Amino acid sequence: MSAGGGRIEALVGSMTLSEKIGQMTQASNEVISPAEVADHAIGSVLSGGNGNPSPNTAAVWADMVAGFTEAAAQTRLGVPLVYGIDAVHGHSNVGGATIFPHNIGLGAIDDADLMRRIGRATAAEMMATGVRWTFAPTVAVPHDIRWGRTYEGYGRDPALVARLGSALVDGLHGDGAGALDVLACPKHFVGDGGTTWGTVSAPEWNHWWDPWGDGWRIDQGDTRLDEAELRAVHLPPYESTVAAGALSIMASYSSWNGDKLHGHRYLLTDVLKGEVGFPGFVVSDWMGIDQLDADYDHCVIEAINAGIDMVMVPDEFRRFIDAATRAVAAGAIAMDRIDDAVRRILRAKSALGLFNEPQTRPALSVVGHEDHRRLAAEAARRSAVLLKNNGALPVGGNEPIDLAGAAADDIGLQCGGWTVGWQGGTGATTPGTTLLGALRAASSEVAHDPDGLFGGRPPGRVGVVCIAEEPYAEGPGDSAVPTATALDREVFHRMRQRCEHLILMIYSGRPLVIPDLVSSADAVVAAWLPGTEATQLPGLLTGDQPFEGRLPQPWPAGESDLGNPDAVPSYPVNHGLRLGIHADSAATTRPPTVSNEQSES
Ligand code: BGC
Ligand code: BGC
Repeated sequence: MSAGGGRIEALVGSMTLSEKIGQMTQASNEVISPAEVADHAIGSVLSGGNGNPSPNTAAVWADMVAGFTEAAAQTRLGVPLVYGIDAVHGHSNVGGATIFPHNIGLGAIDDADLMRRIGRATAAEMMATGVRWTFAPTVAVPHDIRWGRTYEGYGRDPALVARLGSALVDGLHGDGAGALDVLACPKHFVGDGGTTWGTVSAPEWNHWWDPWGDGWRIDQGDTRLDEAELRAVHLPPYESTVAAGALSIMASYSSWNGDKLHGHRYLLTDVLKGEVGFPGFVVSDWMGIDQLDADYDHCVIEAINAGIDMVMVPDEFRRFIDAATRAVAAGAIAMDRIDDAVRRILRAKSALGLFNEPQTRPALSVVGHEDHRRLAAEAARRSAVLLKNNGALPVGGNEPIDLAGAAADDIGLQCGGWTVGWQGGTGATTPGTTLLGALRAASSEVAHDPDGLFGGRPPGRVGVVCIAEEPYAEGPGDSAVPTATALDREVFHRMRQRCEHLILMIYSGRPLVIPDLVSSADAVVAAWLPGTEATQLPGLLTGDQPFEGRLPQPWPAGESDLGNPDAVPSYPVNHGLRLGIHADSAATTRPPTVSNEQSES
């Protein structure tokens, strides 16, 4: 069955109310079975951050997704199912997939063409497993680095976010000929990056919320801005991604001046669908509608009437189906609204070509393919920002290096959150190349001791100390003072004692408050969360590769910068020293800042 506009109308006309509500329902693979997908004519299944099959291999993913897709094909009308996932830096749940740098690093590069290439590679790896919908790109404009999702946003400049977000949508969607490769989903509409510290309050009826006790201080909070500023800062990425053809958008957990986005008819319907002209469907976030009211029926009514089209009800999908059915019967939700929601969902499925080909099964060898890894290595290398250099860089080709810090040899720390698991992890969570591995492959003379002790060996002249944030995602990553761990500080000071030239390499989801370490080190590299491929990082140290990255967020001078819009940072947005061969011709689309004049090349 193909489905142009007329076909979609005919299909909507032939659907029962329960089939329509089924289309509007998205359940988690951890809860729903293929048989239940068939029974309820479910429109979508997702894997949340922890929704991996076991064992976590591409082949097992492909079989699991096919099981759900085939179940949907068995239903009376055979409306195809779309499987959703957070492929937010590569197909990042899947063991063995290529992991690209998180968005903050891509913001440091600011290259739309690179974004398209990353989008295409990510789509290819997704298609190999049959997953056709990713909850990406995050087009938040993060304004406070205490936010645990700072790294998911490209940067502080709305135009940068708009430019890179729409390029990623383009890449994910594919070459424009025929069906979309995968469906992008810009998120979280709107103002998620503008929330105010300390404005998060757990709905008292919602007991799953805040299991970490002190997480969620700014994530899911209240964005307190007048409408002109909300539009100027947070709306542009939606205008650009809709113009790029986005056909799904996720609503934000956050509020705007006290009103939750999930129930915000003005912003979801009048502004996004009306004014911006978004023709696709709005999906709610994970249990997002539950936060609207203590009375669940009321949550459903408010969300759908506000303009939510598909409801992410990971666990209690039956409760949603029952509540929506009651609401329509009672006239609390109009049939027109239901039809509009279903039409929007079917339009996106049709654009994916699912009516013709409900399932893709390209070769699994695409997952983690070496071409993609090379692309990720390029991105990781280009994202690194040289904050400071007192002549420690470049390191001479034959100079032995003392390498310290656990992060120098830890894929999990390199990748951060949203990698294999929701919160990420430490250690060899998935295959890849660490800085240590890369230095060894480049046959540098390198000694590694995570603790910087080196068993009493005489000190080398050059030391590199690699520090990292512990991985996190969402509210658990909210931090009153993002800084180095006590252990990393200890190792840093040991290395400072030991080495004449000390290079500080930082893996983090945001700028850190470490003015003492920055001033004590001879050179400082902010490498963000580079992903699985550190293979090209050694070239930066030796000067064989140029430093190209520029800060997408200001680097704080101290704690008092946090939450202070008038702060004078240590290094402003766009700062990044140039160094290494071809440094002069390094591609850059942003005007140079004063700091470039101090660069040595
Ligand atoms: C996050 C979304 C994500 C969803 C599904 C939510 O908690 O806010 O960004 O897409 O979970 O994993
Ligand atoms: C899921 C995430 C989700 C989170 C919300 C996790 O179990 O995997 O996708 O965002 O729960 O609590």
